Amino acid sequence: MSDARVNFLDPAVRAAPHLVYARMRRESPVCQIDPAGIWAVTRYEDVMTVLRTPEVFSSEGSAAAFSPPWLDRNPLLGAMNMADPPRHGPLRALISRAFNTATIHRLEPLLRQVAAQLVPPMLERREVDLVHDFCQHIPAAAMMALMGLDPAHGARFLAWAKDFADLASIALDENRQSEIRTDLREMEEYMNGLLEERRRNPGTDVISDLIRAEIDGQKLTHEELMSFCFLLLPAGIETVTHQLALMLHMLMTRPELQEQLRAARSLLPPFIEEMLRYDPVAQGLFRMTTADTTLGGVNIPKHSIVMLVMASATHDEAQFQDPERFDLDRPGPQNTVFGHGIHFCIGASLARMELRVALEELLSRAAIVPGVEPAQWRLSLAVRGPAVLPAEIRAV
Ligand code: HEM
Repeated sequence: MSDARVNFLDPAVRAAPHLVYARMRRESPVCQIDPAGIWAVTRYEDVMTVLRTPEVFSSEGSAAAFSPPWLDRNPLLGAMNMADPPRHGPLRALISRAFNTATIHRLEPLLRQVAAQLVPPMLERREVDLVHDFCQHIPAAAMMALMGLDPAHGARFLAWAKDFADLASIALDENRQSEIRTDLREMEEYMNGLLEERRRNPGTDVISDLIRAEIDGQKLTHEELMSFCFLLLPAGIETVTHQLALMLHMLMTRPELQEQLRAARSLLPPFIEEMLRYDPVAQGLFRMTTADTTLGGVNIPKHSIVMLVMASATHDEAQFQDPERFDLDRPGPQNTVFGHGIHFCIGASLARMELRVALEELLSRAAIVPGVEPAQWRLSLAVRGPAVLPAEIRAV
């Protein structure tokens, strides 16, 4: 590979990232890229090493990657995904309690109803944007139900979720930056009010559980509770929205696969697992080195930002046989899309359930084909997926 740095924002790279990732895995699996000379790690084994070594690869890297200079204060900074040991462990222990299997089972009928109700209005219009009209509503309903929010605040909640999604996007104009700053202040007020209200009148939601929760006499502080409420928007909504959109995009481009899934629901779980490997929403995770270190034989200086290229790791030929083949019979799950180690995604089971329920309800009622306009893609190093997914939809 030439000495020139690959620029991950180059439209040619973004149009065919897997060709570039494959070349990087072969020729320079740990190297500096643009923007900003961050270090990219593309091989599965090296990605796993970083995730298993938080003492050298600190999650403060996430904080740096998600704090654009135009934001006076990033409300996510105290959140658990950006915390290192020893602070991370007790925080995670308290929060994991609220994400148990019973909670997920309780949500399924509600999400099934939400997904089913979204289909008839789309069938009436025929031409739809699947992200706006379908994908985003299922994870938003899940997070609102978890937090015990009033469904009447749904539109506001979705706007905030979009703000958080845009925080990781590149190239926002000044108007949008200022809009996001105003929205975040409004959201902070709303969440402060919510926490006060739940302290007075605790309910059966996750926020009330977290206010009550205590381990070894330790409770979450107000700031920790706030940052967790904030984290649920990008962590719980943006990820599922775009992963679902990637799945629907695949099904529109592969109509025979759509038919196959419609005919046999039992193929949905292997389809979901293979999609999480083949086209994962989580493209990049970020870390910061706490000391000079060596990875894959390459020296990385202290305080470097390291990007784990998750979408490359899941196509690593050293780990996956014939990785470019979409294979429903692939033994799994082997994907890394939910991370690994101490920060492994707390919402992985919930996400899998949401994706399955959304696909079941849509495919049993409707067939989708690409719309007239092309899909528009997110411009972000962290997340890949359509921002707009035009489709024509008809009843089956
Ligand atoms: C397809 C959907 C999802 C994907 C691909 C995904 C991916 C990830 C990844 C890769 C991490 C690790 C981040 C790191 O190591 O820096 C993570 C952590 C996390 N995820 Fe998810 N996630 C998804 C859905 C969800 C949902 C639905 C929720 C919440 C309800 C959630 C909550 C979290 C939280 C709280 C963490 C932080 C865990 C920690 O730091 O210990 N995620 N997720």
